[in-house]
Amino acid sequence: MKQLKRIKGTQDILPEAAAVWLAVEKKIHSIMGLYNFKEIRTPIFEKTELFARRIGQLTDIVSKEMYTFTDRGRKQITLKPEMTAPVMRAYIENKLYASMPVNKLYYISPLFRQENPQAGRLRQFHQFGAEILGTREPEADVEIIELAMAVYQAADIKDLTLEINSVGDPQCRTPYKILLQEYIRPNLEQYCQDCRRRFDENPMRILDCKNETCRQLNSKAPKLADNLCPDCSRHYSSVKAQLHALNLEFSENPYLVRGLDYYTRTVFEITSGSLGAQNAVCGGGRYDLLAEELGGQPAPAVGFASGIERLLMAAEKQGINIVEPARLDIFIAAMGEQAKFEAVSWLKRFRMLGYSCDMDMLGRSIKAQMREANRQKTRFVLLIGEDELKKESFSLKLMDEGRQLDVPFEMAADILAEYR
Ligand code: HAM
Repeated sequence: MKQLKRIKGTQDILPEAAAVWLAVEKKIHSIMGLYNFKEIRTPIFEKTELFARRIGQLTDIVSKEMYTFTDRGRKQITLKPEMTAPVMRAYIENKLYASMPVNKLYYISPLFRQENPQAGRLRQFHQFGAEILGTREPEADVEIIELAMAVYQAADIKDLTLEINSVGDPQCRTPYKILLQEYIRPNLEQYCQDCRRRFDENPMRILDCKNETCRQLNSKAPKLADNLCPDCSRHYSSVKAQLHALNLEFSENPYLVRGLDYYTRTVFEITSGSLGAQNAVCGGGRYDLLAEELGGQPAPAVGFASGIERLLMAAEKQGINIVEPARLDIFIAAMGEQAKFEAVSWLKRFRMLGYSCDMDMLGRSIKAQMREANRQKTRFVLLIGEDELKKESFSLKLMDEGRQLDVPFEMAADILAEYR
């Protein structure tokens, strides 16, 4: 039969890599705890309309990247392509606002986008992220940005650039869009197809088109930051002042608008100089109107999400060793039926004492068992054969020192504890 392969754009996380993932996840949980964020887990799929209407019909995610199917009840279901809309849906549905005025939530989750796979761009990828729901204060924006940076700092990742902008609110955006359309209209024919499509409904997305011609055409476009209403302007100034006070380096990119339509006011992106084309490691911003758009009470909110695969790629490129390869504490090398019988019960005892412990399960010779112990970078080998059984003792081999000593069965636990 033809060998089956995994789906393009997905990855198997094999044991060695899984240890690294676990270490990164532990780090994320621990930092989120320091910042007083609580974990939230939402279903892997949602009703399609949650994403279709709220992320924006014209965004790449909704127009071409969602994994959508019809279930047996003829409902349109989508594998979640991002976490902000599901978190907001869960917040409203479970009335989280009723018990806490401000909810600080975080997640680590697989997500699905039908993109063209390439290095750092997958169809199933993973994000960690955080959302603060229930406040419009600029301190929340700053906490979110600072928290995102803190995770990279904890992982020792350098060469990061933080860019920020304000995309205002409907009050300042409506007149700005007209201004922008007036600037673009005379050259509209020269813009790419995507931009021309966005011109009427979402002209701001034209500003962050990656096409070189569009970028050049945009180089003198009016900036929203120069056209913010007084409230948005005050908010943006306060965010920048607090970032300066924290000594967080950032640059303002007046054309940063992000690829999702729910943003208001602050938006930001973190890129890594160690990655190629897919250099965005983190993105986020404020979305003060999403709660009402989802049928909830007003709940201004701000958040970020970071790609875990891209964090790991940046770490690898920078030669950062996130986790030492795991070592086995004890390998019991047994020879003969009776010795193996004895070994099985010792395995259980040592495991209960907290040692990682294993033995041969292929009926191999002692020499081959020693090779296996070496391969697993074992710290202690306990040899047990006929002689040892008679003496009721193990031959203990201290692998790092190359020394061997006799250890009576009843003293084995105490002696190992000395060398632990
Ligand atoms: P996003 O910019 O679409 O934002 O994704 C955030 C990060 O997820 C990206 O910077 C990137 O590191 C990673 N990422 C996205 N797509 C892929 C992919 N196909 N393969 C690998 N990594 C990927 C959001 O998702 C928003 N929900 C962020 C947010 C949270 N805004 C407010 N709160």
